[in-house]
Amino acid sequence: MSDLVYVLNGPNLNLLGTREPDIYGSATLDEIAGMLEDRARDLDLEVDVRQSNHEGHLVDWLHEAQAEGAKAVLLNAGAYTHTSIALLDAIRSIAVPVIEVHLSDPATREAFRHVSYVGMAAAGEVKGLGPQSYVVALEKAAAL
Ligand code: DQA
Repeated sequence: MSDLVYVLNGPNLNLLGTREPDIYGSATLDEIAGMLEDRARDLDLEVDVRQSNHEGHLVDWLHEAQAEGAKAVLLNAGAYTHTSIALLDAIRSIAVPVIEVHLSDPATREAFRHVSYVGMAAAGEVKGLGPQSYVVALEKAAAL
């Protein structure tokens, strides 16, 4: 059976495609999920792509990734990246490696995006490549 990789997406990422396309591009989250499924097939991985606007759902899904024996989690926590000690604690609470993903490069944007609580516990980070950030993160997960 293929190894499972959770791909968790936080607030406002359900609006990709129409949300600030000058920053995030025109691909929808469904299209990104399709790209990941194609790449996962080549890498002999299975992806489970989810999105929630609610912080607690992301915490629950991180716990679930561990309970289900996932190989890795790709996490684009959206704005919770920069605010959520609960996500930092959740990542520290599980043994599953979490790779931080961003479409944009938060380090080149507003100062409040320069702090990443996710990054304080993540096993790796891919940012600034648009949808390709997710694909590169999946390749990193495959290599773990
Ligand atoms: C984002 C960057 C975050 O700062 C922002 O709040 C998002 C999207 C990205 O993918 O570039 O919602 O995580």
